[in-house]
Amino acid sequence: VVDIRSFYKETGLFTYDPGYTATASCESQITYIDGDEGVLLYRGYPIEELAENSDFLEVAYLLLHGELPTRGQQNEFNRAITLHTMVHEQLKNFYNGFRRDAHPMAIMVGVVGALSAFYHDSTDITDKKQRMIASHRMIAKMPTIAAMAYKYSIGQPFIFPRNDLSYTANFMRMCFAVPAEEYEVNPVLCDALDKIFILHMDHEQNASTSTVRLAGSSGANPFACIAAGIASLWGPAHGGANEAALNMLEEIGTPERIPEYIARAKDKNDPFRLMGFGHRVYKNYDPRAKVMQKACHEVLAALGVKNDPLLETAMELERIALSDDYFIEKKLYPNIDFYSGITLKALGFPTTMFTVLFALARTVGWIAQWTEMIEDDNQRIGRPRQIYTGARQRCYAPIHKR
Ligand code: ACO
Repeated sequence: VVDIRSFYKETGLFTYDPGYTATASCESQITYIDGDEGVLLYRGYPIEELAENSDFLEVAYLLLHGELPTRGQQNEFNRAITLHTMVHEQLKNFYNGFRRDAHPMAIMVGVVGALSAFYHDSTDITDKKQRMIASHRMIAKMPTIAAMAYKYSIGQPFIFPRNDLSYTANFMRMCFAVPAEEYEVNPVLCDALDKIFILHMDHEQNASTSTVRLAGSSGANPFACIAAGIASLWGPAHGGANEAALNMLEEIGTPERIPEYIARAKDKNDPFRLMGFGHRVYKNYDPRAKVMQKACHEVLAALGVKNDPLLETAMELERIALSDDYFIEKKLYPNIDFYSGITLKALGFPTTMFTVLFALARTVGWIAQWTEMIEDDNQRIGRPRQIYTGARQRCYAPIHKR
């Protein structure tokens, strides 16, 4: 790693690196990825162990504070989050301003940004206590806001948070319960969704996290920074890939048609790619994909689904691709999105909600990264350079002479 700043000071020369493939924008102690070995650690703990043994709020505490909580710290943190799950009654008005068929991600960008107009008492980012309250508010309100976006998009009344439930059970209830009807959260499905959230919580300097850091580097309001992260996540090259993978599996339909799609993926004259395969950093099996595949099996078993054609197609596609020279040479393995679409669909979420669920989980990573940035002594406003390729200085011509 070359620290280019002193080189720039001495020579005035800087690097050209579109897409930041070879540029570290910060130092971070939160998430470690070894793409060649297929390793993902949160604060040093393997993602597989956290998904297996922890729950959402325990991992959130770990990402925010750097250590797993003691029982006392856990109780205190859970209480602090629970305290903030409600949203202000006036916030409902923002939902009513959207067309009823608005995409839930559009609603998320607007409503989360609007939080900046509600909480003036937690936006002095120089004050550690205020930063913490803003973090708790954001993590606590995200399920409520996301469930409201879903309910609004399907024309059902909002369901209030129930603070005696776990973070994820409360979210499922706010999504799937309807007034005056009993709703019991299925513990197996809830556990699977909790795992999915943990897998999505952080992934170091991806596009949306970098967006949050860049927006925050100017000292901007933290809620507005998270809204910027949601906007970035919405893009199909980032949070939207699981929907594309699900659509592809539905289009393939049966294992018999897989060879046709494999051939298309290998054909350089065909723009088609196997969705849910390949990754910029992982050149090995994405460790999240393994956990996701297991969660997918658990969900389908809990729902009594036998021989799900989508899952069968996915597993056969994986088997064929992983024994094909093209995919082996290019180190293309299933990524997290390969199995997540099938799982989320089975859990009852429509595809338009997939990226919203991703945003809900990633909020923890965004907040942890934002906090780390604010507390970093090296932190300066993010300000990339450019290679100017436009015209040199020109003389202004009045309009009648152009
Ligand atoms: N199917 C077929 N070929 C592929 C695939 C694929 N899914 N992915 C990459 N390749 C090929 C490319 O054609 C390229 O071949 P070439 O060297 O002969 O030109 C080579 O593998 C390298 O691919 P790049 O696009 O250069 O790799 P990059 O790191 O830029 O892209 C990406 C990674 C975008 C994830 C890519 O693998 C892809 O498009 N995958 C499908 C979409 C997807 O699943 N996205 C989710 C990513 S995970 C996430 O965002 C949470």
